[in-house]
Amino acid sequence: MKNIAIFASGSGSNAENIIVYFKNHPMVRVDSVWSNKRGAFVLTRAQNLGVESHYFTREEFLGPAMITELQNRNIGLIVLAGFLWLVPPHFVDAFTIINIHPALLPAYGGKGMYGSSVHEAIVHNQEKESGITIHLVNKEYDKGEHLLQAKCPVFPEDTADTLAARIHELEYKYFPKAIEDYLNRCGS
Ligand code: GAR
Repeated sequence: MKNIAIFASGSGSNAENIIVYFKNHPMVRVDSVWSNKRGAFVLTRAQNLGVESHYFTREEFLGPAMITELQNRNIGLIVLAGFLWLVPPHFVDAFTIINIHPALLPAYGGKGMYGSSVHEAIVHNQEKESGITIHLVNKEYDKGEHLLQAKCPVFPEDTADTLAARIHELEYKYFPKAIEDYLNRCGS
């Protein structure tokens, strides 16, 4: 069995979709959900789905104990599902980490580019298309190897909210499957 830990900072609709996808899966188990935001709705979603959830501080994230805890849980993969902190180097060294970004990287990536700020910039610049990038995490924001990209149109009448909804649909469709495919190919 391959154990996943999901890190998320906000609503957690992707986290929920991943948990539901892997429920009763023969090979993959969502072990726990971790958030850097106390009271983030993702923690409630996890509890409602019977998955352990944890809040952590920046000090805990930067220290060694959280790594040990995740290793003791036999976590084979960390999935970032709307997680907004840069992952520190000792995490990148200790775990394979997959992130989802709500744009076609390398465009609209990097520090400060997350969630609605990405969609606002794309609508403001009157882009014709956007999409999602699922990628491995390295020590720089949004720079790791791409695993999958999927595109969608951006319409002249779009707002950041209507675009976000279209992007979320792509995320729900592709993210769990991309995780499963990665674990089938490369999971330890
Ligand atoms: C998702 O659209 C995800 O791509 C984005 O945050 C949203 C979280 O939504 N992630 C980033 O912007 C990371 N740079 P959710 O909480 O409903 O899953």
